[in-house]
Amino acid sequence: MNLLPFGLAVAALVLTPFSLAQTAPAATPPMGWNSWNHFAGHVTDADVRSAADQLVSTGMRNAGYVYVNLDDTWQGKRDAQGILHPNDRFPDMKALADYVHSRGLKFGLYSSPGAKTCDGYEGSLGHEQQDAQTYAGWGVDFLKYDLCSFQDQMRQAKEQHPDDPRLEFRMMQAAFKKMGDALKATGRPIVYSLCQYGIDDPWKFGPGVQSEMWRTTDDISDSYARMMEIAYAQVGLAKFAGPGHWNDPDMLEVGNGGMKPSEYRVHMSLWALLAAPLLAGNDLSKMTPDDKAILMNRDVIAIDQDALGKQAERVWQQGDFSLWRKPLTGGRYAVGLVNNSWSERDIPLNLAEIGFPSGANVYDVWAGKDLGRWTGPQSLTMPGHTVQLWIFKQ
Ligand code: GAL
Repeated sequence: MNLLPFGLAVAALVLTPFSLAQTAPAATPPMGWNSWNHFAGHVTDADVRSAADQLVSTGMRNAGYVYVNLDDTWQGKRDAQGILHPNDRFPDMKALADYVHSRGLKFGLYSSPGAKTCDGYEGSLGHEQQDAQTYAGWGVDFLKYDLCSFQDQMRQAKEQHPDDPRLEFRMMQAAFKKMGDALKATGRPIVYSLCQYGIDDPWKFGPGVQSEMWRTTDDISDSYARMMEIAYAQVGLAKFAGPGHWNDPDMLEVGNGGMKPSEYRVHMSLWALLAAPLLAGNDLSKMTPDDKAILMNRDVIAIDQDALGKQAERVWQQGDFSLWRKPLTGGRYAVGLVNNSWSERDIPLNLAEIGFPSGANVYDVWAGKDLGRWTGPQSLTMPGHTVQLWIFKQ
């Protein structure tokens, strides 16, 4: 059988930014860029405009990265009416949002249900409806809502009501719901992204507070070990992901320099298998050819964005090896095998474990190459910290 058509079909499934815009928010995992991992608390209006420009000029936008998300530290002071204004680094938020939109992109912001954000800026506590209206007025398309100082409220409640161990969690959910309802009430489609580090299983209560995605863990860092730790923490969560509601293992670190290209390929492969939101967090003006090839591999993005919206299960973990399988449209499966050890190892692969006892047609995603038909037991040699990512089809 000629496998070429199915390889090409993988690439053809990539959604354009414009087809994403026409569907419900987050029908597939949101893709874009976020300011935090690279700019942290120093981000400016000019950085965000330049990120928007770079998304276009590098081809990232057309690969699907459409959200430009300004994270913490944009907030200024509230006026006498309680309306929040940006700080001096952001002279005109509406103009910034308009600029981002003019580049065929979407604009995201960040706040907290607490009085202060994690970096000590103004949060939304007591101003939820007002802030939601402000965001909608500016043209915001995405809100990351970060628990931060609301944990003070939760701690106090716990101390005052030790007899009610669920009180702090009910309060947290109510706080997230308040903003979720406020965003929906604006009538503007705004993706609502919870960031509370996985406390009290947000994959269970997220949809009920109107959220389309929720962080499952504490922060990622640009380290291979931390990235793998987060990937392993997703095991068991696949059933909670689907169109309109996604587990979020945190932003991408690809291009930030802390991992080797082969390790970033593991990171990108796992995030695609996990149907994770793909929010790049690097300096887009300084991408190496490897960074571009990793972030913009059309087949990998197509795995992440597959319309079925399934998250991979880990089929098994044997020592340093783990095998992951994500069902795709058309009866296909994306299959990832990771060698998490430092050194080159041999690993046998039993196709029955992947659900193909009588063999499969296999496409090597990173090589962009059809491998023909595999039957019987396979044996692979893999260098340390590498991934094999395939598409399997009957
Ligand atoms: C953390 C969050 C990060 C970033 C940061 C900003 O809580 O997990 O992704 O948003 O706050 O202060």
